[in-house]
Amino acid sequence: MASVQTLSHVYPLGSALDENGRLQIGGCDVIELAERFGTPAYVVAEADLRSRARAFIDAFRAAGQEDFEVLFASKAFPATAVMALFAGEGLGCDVASAGELHLALRAGFHPAKLVAHGNARDDRELQAALDAAVGHIVVDSHDDIDRLERLTAGAARRQPVLVRITPGVRGDTHEKISTGQADSKFGVGLDEAPAAIERLRGLEGVELLGLHFHLGSQLFTLDTFRSGIAAIAPLGDFPVYNLGGGLGVAYTDEQRPPAIEEYVAALVETVREQLGSGKRLLVEPGRALVANGCVTLYRVVGVKRNVSTWVSVDGGMSDNLRPMLYGARYQAEIADRFGGATRVHLTGKHCESGDILIRDAMLDDPRPGDVVVVPVTGAYGYAMANNYNGVPRAPVIFASDGEARVVVRRETLDDLHARDV
Ligand code: LLP
Repeated sequence: MASVQTLSHVYPLGSALDENGRLQIGGCDVIELAERFGTPAYVVAEADLRSRARAFIDAFRAAGQEDFEVLFASKAFPATAVMALFAGEGLGCDVASAGELHLALRAGFHPAKLVAHGNARDDRELQAALDAAVGHIVVDSHDDIDRLERLTAGAARRQPVLVRITPGVRGDTHEKISTGQADSKFGVGLDEAPAAIERLRGLEGVELLGLHFHLGSQLFTLDTFRSGIAAIAPLGDFPVYNLGGGLGVAYTDEQRPPAIEEYVAALVETVREQLGSGKRLLVEPGRALVANGCVTLYRVVGVKRNVSTWVSVDGGMSDNLRPMLYGARYQAEIADRFGGATRVHLTGKHCESGDILIRDAMLDDPRPGDVVVVPVTGAYGYAMANNYNGVPRAPVIFASDGEARVVVRRETLDDLHARDV
């Protein structure tokens, strides 16, 4: 008898252990995926991404917010297939560079659904956003205003813009991914904002529609967002507000972030109270759309015992920098033996001691050849992947209804020198 067991909320929606205790993602057996596509590999449950995109849209409707846009922060997972999936779900897209803009247009987003960001944009990068006729350019500084003044002089089209405000709100997150505090490289502070707004109102070539903030990432406290909204309220009445991204996700079983519905309801309610009704509301979730929909598969290469037990896998800081950059905590399992009790350090293959994916992971007697699964790698994993130690970057596999397909192929050794001249 098939006794299928559903899994912790950190795994992609629809994941299960089959009757032999083997992990199934998107209806596919991950050990078969590891054999077929090799390791390491990012495996994405397509239905999970779709369902989270719909959850955002449904949440706005449920909260009675008619005029809204959900923009995928493409920096979280800038693979064309992921972006195209969200374009197909009716989302817009947040781009943080000319490169992300290029990817978003190729992925099929309508330019009017793009929001262009950046704290260090030269003329070329701003011109690319103007040429594409993006929906909004988010102005980050007085230097942006200088450039826009020059670049839009005499233009036939008025470029809609928002001003990014740094509201002086510090969220409960790692300092490297906190942005809303007053001392930040992003945005215009509350003191300076009136002057920036005034200047933008005076420019012929742009149309100032409203304000933007992004307080930080991996935020669990809805009051942080409420404080951000309250902080920008005195800056005036605008038709459009873009409240950035930042909703946190669960990386480990015990973490319980607010649900998408709770988050959206809190934003809509606070905007109505603080900013008034009838506003157009934009949000830019990255992590909350893609993190939990993806797992990384590795193969155990060796097990070494000295003071600790070191389980080495065939990837590491080239496919997931987050533990090293932010001390981010993940959990792992052997793909066909969940629920282990052997305490190990799950370590990568790179030539430095800091290349540890998980300290004190609990695995079931890991052995060379086992497939290890690390969940919640959809956000900023592929995005920050690199070729350290000449390691080719991992492929992205979409799994859906028992079918798997490669959407980004594994890099080859020849790719490693493809740019040589
Ligand atoms: N909007 C803006 C303007 C942003 O700067 C970001 C993220 C987002 C939206 C999306 O935030 P999310 O919903 O994903 O929290 N590499 C780091 C995260 C950096 C986030 C940068 N900005 C990490 O791996 O945790």
